[in-house]
Amino acid sequence: PTVTFTDDNSRLRADLPTGESIEVLLYGATVISWKDATGDEKLWLSEAAKLDGSKAVRGGIPLVFPVFGTAPDHPQTKDLPQHGFARTSRWEFLGKSTSESMVGVKLDFGLSSATPGLDPKAAALWPFKFNLIYSVTLNPESLTTSIVATNDDAAAPFDCQVLMHTYLRVKDITAVEITGLASAPYTDKVGPSAPSTKTQPATPPTLTITGETDRVYTPTEDAVTVSEAGQPRFRVTRDNLANVVVWNPWADKAAAMADFKPDDGYKNMVCVEPGAVGGWQAVEGGDAFEGAQTIKLVG
Ligand code: BG6
Repeated sequence: PTVTFTDDNSRLRADLPTGESIEVLLYGATVISWKDATGDEKLWLSEAAKLDGSKAVRGGIPLVFPVFGTAPDHPQTKDLPQHGFARTSRWEFLGKSTSESMVGVKLDFGLSSATPGLDPKAAALWPFKFNLIYSVTLNPESLTTSIVATNDDAAAPFDCQVLMHTYLRVKDITAVEITGLASAPYTDKVGPSAPSTKTQPATPPTLTITGETDRVYTPTEDAVTVSEAGQPRFRVTRDNLANVVVWNPWADKAAAMADFKPDDGYKNMVCVEPGAVGGWQAVEGGDAFEGAQTIKLVG
């Protein structure tokens, strides 16, 4: 048994012999589906998500680079669109590799300042010589996404932020508990005095989502676990990514997003987004920033 693979020059799909599958759009190198061996979907994708390259995908795993949100006070990125241009560029598929034991598959995608599919806004507004390699690795019990962002111009250092904007699918947001954030400092992007700096209480050790939530955590623990009804479901670990954004738009914000459907879809998702977004990663010419997340299915 081998990995089966399809590529229609717009969307790639890989199926493991054990039954798991992923689908990735070249647009944004966005992972839009991740199914376990029983065919159960693990990512939330809006029914109104644009998959034709006209807008960043609402759901799956959009990749945020080189700016998280907008940064009006940061000269290099102040004019870039929200969350940068990686998610709105058409990436090149570089190839696939299977692991030695043949249990998994790794798909590599590339986007550089010379890629024809680069969002035209990017070249005009962020004129650096960069090269991104984004790898999506599917194993029977886990999905890993990793990025290497290289600066190819010795004369022009750049600053960047990176974030893997994962929309996890859940059955019922009111039954979700998130651990691994206790005592962690965070920036709260919601509320009258937002953004404000807070600290997650040590007790209870779990975060529950009961309304609009948009927080940038700097966890002290290595793993963030998402449980449902007391059962662990996802264990998210990070490599060189200091932050975790937890986002749920809740009813009003969801209804206000034209590409968020159904309106009550916020009950079936929670974004747990590993990233390096607390400050800026300064990348000198010839250097690279690397970071990764692994989402393990547990329970
Ligand atoms: C989150 C941000 O990561 O992404 C939120 O913290 C933002 O503030 C959300 O609303 C969705 O962003 P977008 O651009 O995909 O609507």
